[in-house]
Amino acid sequence: MFHGEPSGAQKRFLELPSIRIAREEGREDLVNTLLEVLHRIVPSDEEDKRVRELAEKIKLKVEEALRKLEIQASVEIEGSVARGTWISGSVDFDIFILLPPPPTSEYEYKGMLEDLVMKVMRELDLRSQMRYAEHPYLHVWIEGYEVDIVPAFESHPEKIISAVDRTPYHTRYVRSMLNDDLRNEVRLLKGFLKGIGVYGAEIKVGGFSGYACELLIIYYGSFLQAVKELSRKKRILIDLTRTWSPEDAFKKFNHSFILVDPVDRNRNVTNALRRETICRFQLLSKLFLAKPSSKFFFPKAPDLPKDESIISEISRRKLCMLVLRRSNVPPDVYWGQALRIMHKIKNVLERSEFSPIFLGISEGKNSMIILIETRFHATPTPRIVSGPPTSASTENILSFIRKYRGRSIAGPWIEGQRIVFLVDESVLLSDFLEEYVKTIKIEPSFTSFEIIDSPSKMLEVAREEEMLQDMYSLVIRREILNYIDE
Ligand code: UTP
Ligand code: MN
Ligand code: MN
Repeated sequence: MFHGEPSGAQKRFLELPSIRIAREEGREDLVNTLLEVLHRIVPSDEEDKRVRELAEKIKLKVEEALRKLEIQASVEIEGSVARGTWISGSVDFDIFILLPPPPTSEYEYKGMLEDLVMKVMRELDLRSQMRYAEHPYLHVWIEGYEVDIVPAFESHPEKIISAVDRTPYHTRYVRSMLNDDLRNEVRLLKGFLKGIGVYGAEIKVGGFSGYACELLIIYYGSFLQAVKELSRKKRILIDLTRTWSPEDAFKKFNHSFILVDPVDRNRNVTNALRRETICRFQLLSKLFLAKPSSKFFFPKAPDLPKDESIISEISRRKLCMLVLRRSNVPPDVYWGQALRIMHKIKNVLERSEFSPIFLGISEGKNSMIILIETRFHATPTPRIVSGPPTSASTENILSFIRKYRGRSIAGPWIEGQRIVFLVDESVLLSDFLEEYVKTIKIEPSFTSFEIIDSPSKMLEVAREEEMLQDMYSLVIRREILNYIDE
């Protein structure tokens, strides 16, 4: 199966903890799958060398730029390149500019960092773009690779100034704990989590960061042990610092998945994990262990059916689409806001007669799209329209009565403490959503919105937004089968 591979490399994998465990358990299927995956995710010696050299080269360039700018700072390679845990073919470079701490803790340093990044950008003379996460950094494209050049402060890990100041400590800790075998175990875990869509601590994913993967491997000793254990626990507490009792930890961190940061015991590394992500991880881990396949690591998107069949699928369901046009804010901001909007809609729908079945979200080229499926597209008739309470102002009460007396089939009478009418009109989901979304704040992430209920229009917008595949998969929700079916 692995023709052309040097036998030395293959032998190296045979001694990997996960492979050894699988072999000892007589799980030939697991051994074969893991070996196949390892050959794809572990970089060759040449690739490894190329990456190391490029990292050094970028580091030198940044140092030189800082020297020319007369900025006192040291430059360090961080992230998975420094830790040797990057996946073949998908490496990104994380280069940190470590600055002395600002003069006072109240010092507004973001403007200063923006200024610094801007200067470095001009000096570097590479294809680059200023980006904003927690604070400004530089994204660079070089020799077909992507680089994040991130300014940070040299501070104590438990008294950090900016959110990324812990990173150098993370790198030091991880490097002190990992050997070559464990690095490849980290690669297996990252590859698996990527493949099942739960890799990344950004709000979009709500999953595991690279650092979390590294800590999980340090704790469990292997990919296999990690997925086995984690897939059958209701609550997780991993504390390499041995600081917290379970009771204290669950109270303090208020999360069902706690991975205490060895460089800052007051921080949960997996704080960004969402309930759904944990569940997805557990389910797919179980399915993987039951029937291993490299599909879990390298899933293929199923072929998209013809337009007519997508339209007919949408038509026989009760679906509605909310399109939120994005303004220019960072992904964590618009993803966070879009998710909050989705939850609000879900809540009002649950209190309505539309009876929601599913709400899902996806990112388009210029917008965020929320797909809403309900049991009813229109409310049943007749329906009660509830007016002001009897304690309200006379003016209020009379204007309500004036509005509905002609349109109603009964009333007004008093129900509870309110004046109500019975009307023979039903409300369309799209009108209801239109009215509701008008009342909520969509700024600063979004400039305008649109509710779409025509199936062909939904298809058209999804295609325009280059997210047809995503939208279709939100509609059919059969994606888990990709990992099981032959
Ligand atoms: P990455 O997201 O690149 O993760 O952040 P990683 O550990 O290198 O893993 P992969 O292999 O690339 O997926 C690396 C470090 O750099 C910091 C993160 O906090 C992390 O500690 N970082 C990176 C930032 O803080 N901001 C950035 O914009 C980029
Ligand atoms: Mn990285
Ligand atoms: Mn990065």
